[in-house]
Amino acid sequence: KKEIEAPIIIIGSGYGGAVSALRLCEAGKKVIMLEMGMNWGKSGISYSNMLKPDKSAAWLKTKTIAPFFNIFGLKPFTGVLDRLDFEHINIWLGRGVGGGSLVNGGMAVTPKQKYFEEIFPNLDAEKFYNIYFPRAKQELKVNVIREDFLNDCPYYKFTRVGEAEAHKAGFKTMRVPNVYDFTYMEKEYKNEVPRSAFKTEVIYGNNHGKNSLDKTYLQKALDTGNLEIFDLHCVDDIKMNNDKSYTLNVNQIDTSGKTVAEKIFHCKQLILAAGTMGTLQLLLKSNAENNFPLHENVGKNWGNNGNFMTGRNWVKPLSGGTGAQQSTIPVGGVDNWDDPKHPFFAEIAPLPMGMDVATALYLQINKVDKKGSVYYKNGKLILDWNESHTQKMKENADYFIKKMNKANGGTRAHLLFKNGFGANICYHPLGGCVLGEATNEFGKLKNHDHLFVLDGSLIPGTIGVNPFVTIVALTEYCIENLINLNEFS
Ligand code: FDA
Repeated sequence: KKEIEAPIIIIGSGYGGAVSALRLCEAGKKVIMLEMGMNWGKSGISYSNMLKPDKSAAWLKTKTIAPFFNIFGLKPFTGVLDRLDFEHINIWLGRGVGGGSLVNGGMAVTPKQKYFEEIFPNLDAEKFYNIYFPRAKQELKVNVIREDFLNDCPYYKFTRVGEAEAHKAGFKTMRVPNVYDFTYMEKEYKNEVPRSAFKTEVIYGNNHGKNSLDKTYLQKALDTGNLEIFDLHCVDDIKMNNDKSYTLNVNQIDTSGKTVAEKIFHCKQLILAAGTMGTLQLLLKSNAENNFPLHENVGKNWGNNGNFMTGRNWVKPLSGGTGAQQSTIPVGGVDNWDDPKHPFFAEIAPLPMGMDVATALYLQINKVDKKGSVYYKNGKLILDWNESHTQKMKENADYFIKKMNKANGGTRAHLLFKNGFGANICYHPLGGCVLGEATNEFGKLKNHDHLFVLDGSLIPGTIGVNPFVTIVALTEYCIENLINLNEFS
């Protein structure tokens, strides 16, 4: 087996990995990043759109894995979208250089300060809202759609209808910032540049317009000359050596998923940024199989960020439908967070089917009253999570849909989900390696001297909004402090 020595290794190239890489490289450190997915930018292969799923559509599967209307006939390929299926919940993830930023809707939302303070009572919120959130938004290139464009553009009829109906039902709405470049979008509308958001591109990747991490943090880190990214390198497990350094067993795969080389990487400092589920898989598996030391809090305090999908069919009588043409980039949401009985935020989501399906789709984000936990048994990750964890979310969804239908007409979306509720759909797995519980105050894993967890698993299961801005801000905060404490010398 080929052996490779590196001072610092980062596993995963999503938000936590990309931010850590940039700040370490800027501090003059040499960094190796291992990513199991492909480097799409380098590959020259285009992303497919939702109406014509192809290579990028799914991670090594023969059937597409969109939340609805899936088709057979895919040739297994290392696509960008993956889904992990547990007994009561399915979790969608991004795979590739850029992680979740390649497949997500780009919604860049800063949490409400009061809720952030409730979730992270030990952090200095003022510092976050004055330094780390603004820094995150600037690096991610967050911007907001122009209201005039939104009001005129047929591709945003679904948002206008969603907002008007919400107002009629007595709900407040909010404009949602995004990392998709809205200047580009206005040009694509005028057909001056190739279309992406208006060509049903998003969950299988965007060929244009979206400022995913490969165009922001990762590009900047590569520009320093200190970062080397090994794509299609999947870390299987981790061992801690007697001198407290780490050894990783890594499989290099080809685009059909076949192992083409087995490699061993050694490093003094290791950053786990494999995303909530990837990080937990590596830690819990290594613990079960290699006696890898773990603190008892690893795997605890997991949540789905209150994700609950729901929708309404026959949104037609008053509004005339949600539109045949729909942008894939959401820009509106219903903000019911301040309602003490039914606090939630609901993204007004697109359903770009190429025809007017007169259906409104919502991804609700709720509080998580009952947390789950994750453990490893019989060679696989098990999630202690069932309907009791989503009961309150279901009550909120029921309240929301009933109120919307009463004011506007329509029915609960039985065509999209069994009983009209998608309790099992999760885009935002969070927690399991919670900051200050499984790690120290800056992400160093307890019982370890040189292992740091920097990704969504630091957030205790809920943050009240779409999470990547928070993951970036938390990583900026942790890595700045870790570098200042000479943890990477
Ligand atoms: P992330 O998952 O981004 O990255 C982890 C990386 O590690 C992946 O590239 C993975 O392949 C790699 N990896 C894992 N295990 C490995 C191993 N063993 N070896 C090597 N590499 C490994 N959020 C938001 O704020 N706004 C939004 O609009 C959306 N929309 C959205 C839509 C969809 C469809 C999804 C699936 C998700 C979203 N999200 C979102 C969620 C958001 O994308 C998610 O919270 C972040 O990507 C998580 O960032 P992390 O840094 O934790 O890991």
